[in-house]
Amino acid sequence: MASTMIPAPHLDVRGVLQSVRNEANTRSPLFLALFTLGAFTAASALWSFSRLLLRAFILPGVNLRKFGAKKGSWAVVTGASDGIGREFAVQLAKAGFNILLAARNPEKLSSVALEIQEKVGGDIQTDTFIIDFAHADNSAYESLASKLQNIDVGVLVNNVGKSHDMPTDFVDTPADEIHDILAINVNATVRVTEIIVPGMVSRRRGLILNMGSFAGAAPSPMLATYSASKAFLATFSAALATELKPKGITVEHANTYFVVSAMSKIRRPSALIPLPRTYVRTVLSTIRPGNFAPYWSHSLLDYVMHSVPESLVVAYEHMLHKDIRKRALRKRERQAKKA
Ligand SMILES: NC(=O)c1ccc[n+]([C@@H]2O[C@H](COP(=O)([O-])OP(=O)(O)OC[C@H]3O[C@@H](n4cnc5c(N)ncnc54)[C@H](OP(=O)(O)O)[C@@H]3O)[C@@H](O)[C@H]2O)c1
Repeated sequence: MASTMIPAPHLDVRGVLQSVRNEANTRSPLFLALFTLGAFTAASALWSFSRLLLRAFILPGVNLRKFGAKKGSWAVVTGASDGIGREFAVQLAKAGFNILLAARNPEKLSSVALEIQEKVGGDIQTDTFIIDFAHADNSAYESLASKLQNIDVGVLVNNVGKSHDMPTDFVDTPADEIHDILAINVNATVRVTEIIVPGMVSRRRGLILNMGSFAGAAPSPMLATYSASKAFLATFSAALATELKPKGITVEHANTYFVVSAMSKIRRPSALIPLPRTYVRTVLSTIRPGNFAPYWSHSLLDYVMHSVPESLVVAYEHMLHKDIRKRALRKRERQAKKA
């Protein structure tokens, strides 16, 4: 039976390169320079997008056993009574860590500790440490240090954080709000890390997970102090990650867009805004050193944000925050009228 042979299409790479060479020989050096620049830009965009997809959907994270899960190690979680921190405490306990929960409200902390005992039970121990990071003095940090003195801490989640009550120009921001944001987001992270790192170094293992925000990835007008405090965390984490890697310690800065919580004031989850449970599950299954957005839709947004000029992102955020402020003020007025 006669058959028609259709030649398979193939890419003649040599031919393409030869024609580029011919073009380059006949055109100006400017052509060659522009071609090289274009090829380099396209290759680097392709590489960063592929890396994003690999990280978000394919590559597994470091196994938590590496940090002492199921071996009697402890995880210290700051801001553990609510939202994302509460989920870290519950899920790290399920993964096999004893948990030290730190926050201000003793009743809320006890109820999370009780929930952990009910859900996980077994050999998992819980303990609480009451601290107000906005006003913690040396003696508060010394008592945290003495509580942790003989404890094998495998994981530190620097989760506690505070944002502005609503977007406001820096000049109109209350002084105590500025103070509290810096004390909680910057000072508490540095002080707690300072207490825990030496033990991790001596054991040559540990995970330090710092909760970052998109607000710190680009300057956020009307959230200036929060934005700058989260930028501090990104830089602090990156420097620590490099110093501590040879000592066996993983430092991750989890760049986070919105998550349903009291702080975000968002109640309904969506593709871009996960519940704390979903978010934390993703973070804990994708642990790796560095600064990146662990949640899949956040990582896509992060990619887009870094693909456009920063001035556009800043202008968009400024517009968005003006709008949020207007709506927040209107809500406040309505509530005042009702009261
Ligand atoms: N939710 C988001 O959309 C989002 C986005 C980007 C980044 N983040 C970051 O994720 C982290 C957690 O945020 P979240 O949304 O889970 O917050 P959240 O629901 O408001 O919970 C905050 C936790 O911190 C504790 N806390 C607050 N002020 C404290 C203080 N002065 N001293 C000690 N503990 C304090 C709270 O407990 P007590 O009241 O009992 O003290 C609570 O356990 C923060 O670092 C935040 O910046 C969140």
